[in-house]
Amino acid sequence: MTDADATLAATPPMGWNSWNAHSCAVTEDDIRAAADALVETGLRDAGYEYVVVDDCWMADETDDAGRLVADSEDFPSGMAALADYVHDRGLQFGLYSSAGSHTCQGYPATLGRERLHAEQFADWGVDFLKYDNCGDHCGRDAVDRYGAMGEALAAVDRDIVYSICEWGQSNPWEWGRNVGGHCWRVTDDAVATWHTVDDEFGLGIADIIDRVAVLDIAAAHGPGGYNDPDMLQVGNGPDSAQSQHEPTDIERPLSDVENRTHFAFWCLLGAPLFVGTDLTGLSQDLLDLLTNERLLAIDQDPLGLQGTPDRRDPTREVWSKRLADGAAVALWNRGEEQAEIRTHVDETSVPTAGERYSVLDCWTGEQWESFGELSATVEPRDTAVFRVTPT
Ligand code: GAL
Repeated sequence: MTDADATLAATPPMGWNSWNAHSCAVTEDDIRAAADALVETGLRDAGYEYVVVDDCWMADETDDAGRLVADSEDFPSGMAALADYVHDRGLQFGLYSSAGSHTCQGYPATLGRERLHAEQFADWGVDFLKYDNCGDHCGRDAVDRYGAMGEALAAVDRDIVYSICEWGQSNPWEWGRNVGGHCWRVTDDAVATWHTVDDEFGLGIADIIDRVAVLDIAAAHGPGGYNDPDMLQVGNGPDSAQSQHEPTDIERPLSDVENRTHFAFWCLLGAPLFVGTDLTGLSQDLLDLLTNERLLAIDQDPLGLQGTPDRRDPTREVWSKRLADGAAVALWNRGEEQAEIRTHVDETSVPTAGERYSVLDCWTGEQWESFGELSATVEPRDTAVFRVTPT
């Protein structure tokens, strides 16, 4: 490992990804608009730095040497020019391919051509690669396929964050870091709803939290390599392109409290934070949510730990995440009625050396002192989040 590797993704990567907003209809104009919007809204200055083009940027065929070619209608300027545009705005540029013969939407992908494509990505100025699991695997297992790309990326003369998108199928938390990955998806795709039912595509926000709760994978998570519960669906609903593209029945946009719980949990989990909504029409409320400094500080805490459940029952859940100066504690009301949720620092990851604690409400900014009791009245599906520091 070089020094550069040690600082790459020292905290969970943050940015914007095209898939949830634009799905397979993405164009270079969408990417430019997203880059401009990241700057204008202040999202870039809040830490969202990677602009990632997901699936469908490629032409149907590679060139004769097997290199990927940008689609000439949707990306006429080519990827190097698009990377320049993104870099000129103080942002980083990301691309997508797959560890198989084809991408999930049937475009040419990278398996067997890792070195060639890694060099191509480096030449174009790519800073982030999302590497999916679709196409023919040619009989090769996940560690072999993802390892080949990890080696190829390590061999090029450019720092490229390596985002493994293997959907958690072969326990990527066990090998993702060793193959050079900086994050690895731990579940199927998130969709813009609270719950999905059995035969529907993807997982709702509550389903993903439930899945992470039982996976017992926090030990794999830390600076330079993170469990990834998928991109944010904050701001999305039935009209988002991914909702329309996938076979799933989404009836309404995520509600305000669902968005809050979604974002609060992704921060508590120390997740990579990739906004997946169309930034050109972002409401002030959603912008305030995505730029909440108190929550972002929890996500980006230098210890890089993952939050874990302390207590779960059908209505009240307590989760916490150890931080450099204390811990974040989340009280989630998963029931359908307002609930009083109580805990004590002894039950959580808060370091308990002291007697008194400073408690910061991460939604309101209010601060008070406690002898260890923590409680909140929480609306249905909402989550109270406290930053608790021994004084
Ligand atoms: C899925 C992946 C999604 C998105 C999509 C593109 O496999 O999990 O995040 O990248 O492919 O086709």
